[in-house]
Amino acid sequence: MYIGIDLGTSATKFLLVDEAGKILNSISKEYPVIYPKSGWSEQDPNEWWNAVKTGIPELLNGFNGQEVNGIGVAGQMHGLVVLDENDNIIRNVILWNDGRTAKETEYLNTVIGKDKLSANTANIAFAGFTAPKLLWMKENEPDNFKKISKIMLPKDYINYKLTGVHACDYSDASGMLLLDVENKCWSEEMLDICSIAEEQMPKLFESFEVIGNVKKEVANELGISEAIVVAGAGDNAAAAIGTGTSGNGKCNISLGTSGTVFISSDKFGVDKNNALHSFCHADGGYHLMGCILSAASCHKWICDKIFTETDYNKLEQEIDNSLLGKNELFFLPYLMGERSPINDTDATGVFIGLRPDTTRSQMLLAVLEGVSFAIRDNIEVAKSIGIDVKSSYICGGGAKSKLWRKILSNILNIELMIPNAEEGPGYGSVMLSMVGAGEFNSVEECAKKLLSVKDNVSPEKELVNLYEERYNKFRQIYPAIKELYKNIKE
Ligand code: XUL
Repeated sequence: MYIGIDLGTSATKFLLVDEAGKILNSISKEYPVIYPKSGWSEQDPNEWWNAVKTGIPELLNGFNGQEVNGIGVAGQMHGLVVLDENDNIIRNVILWNDGRTAKETEYLNTVIGKDKLSANTANIAFAGFTAPKLLWMKENEPDNFKKISKIMLPKDYINYKLTGVHACDYSDASGMLLLDVENKCWSEEMLDICSIAEEQMPKLFESFEVIGNVKKEVANELGISEAIVVAGAGDNAAAAIGTGTSGNGKCNISLGTSGTVFISSDKFGVDKNNALHSFCHADGGYHLMGCILSAASCHKWICDKIFTETDYNKLEQEIDNSLLGKNELFFLPYLMGERSPINDTDATGVFIGLRPDTTRSQMLLAVLEGVSFAIRDNIEVAKSIGIDVKSSYICGGGAKSKLWRKILSNILNIELMIPNAEEGPGYGSVMLSMVGAGEFNSVEECAKKLLSVKDNVSPEKELVNLYEERYNKFRQIYPAIKELYKNIKE
């Protein structure tokens, strides 16, 4: 058997599969996000490790843990985990959607310069990437900064606790702005800029390579064998593997806490404006990616916090189909600021078009549409550099909604394919562990054997036309209020 772990922002999800790839069991362990200030977000890595310590025995309830051959971990990207010389956690992890580094991001992009960053790392700085966080810590918490003995990303902390090995894979490392993505090695120049020595960085691996075995005492505690552990991947690369988005020119859209457009490629490439991230892929190749910071989290926010209704299906059923493409309300989904393509930490969520007769159905629909329009902004960037996305896989919690899939397919005017394995990153990390354990010779072979498409959604001409009109209005809103965001900031 194999275990896939998806270390997400709202929960860690666990999958147990047999050697034929059949899912035997799955469970989830939730934990909170800490928001110390507006636009900041942190988590305590002990929460993640506790989730693993309680999650694995629960996952294996009724199964023989000694039959676990391998483990793969996928994780939320970019989070800065810092350990001191005794391997103690120095501070809470600053997460991928934290916006505190506006100043450091600006410094990197203007003083160091986008050209230099792009030449060294294939990317420019975005708040949320790891390098600006290091600069922030150096400036604001110099004592903590001095204590850093090891730097890692969220899933690498779990791998470290399991194996004692300080490792990172190329896909996740790409999001640190410290990796020379094309040549797959740490960029000396970037480490220098961040006052970091290479000894503080983890050893680099391909995602499907074995980094070590589960330590004996940990194996005993979890009730498993001393199974192999592969390097694993950033959650988006793992999700792409789990949906079949590997090789050249395929696309996966993920509607998780964040929303991403992920385009796989055999060859290294950079978009000339660096609007899309240029990262390594978990299959050994590369990919381009756009990331919106709030996707399914907007849906969760409006249902839980505003409507205080936990039955999401009920809320969706209230939406009359005839409203699709005709909703007069718009929503900008920038609850945590925005990454791609606008790169603006000051942006916030906005409803525009409220009237005395506005219903909660219209508000919910506006949220689903607003997130889909923001995804389209990223598809438009891909288009502008000559990538014509005609179809895409789709995964993540939001993709479970039939209504949302229909809206997205029509707003993007592309076919959406729903893969047999719905647990994108979890299933992808299981696949990586199967390749690492030698069940398959390559990620490609594994994907051919285990993956298929179970359903698809096609755009409908009339709705596409209606949504085209809506999108042309939506795209005017942010430029019109961009400056206002800065003026009204506390
Ligand atoms: C990608 C990104 C997010 C997180 C979410 O660049 O920041 O998708 O990985 O977990």
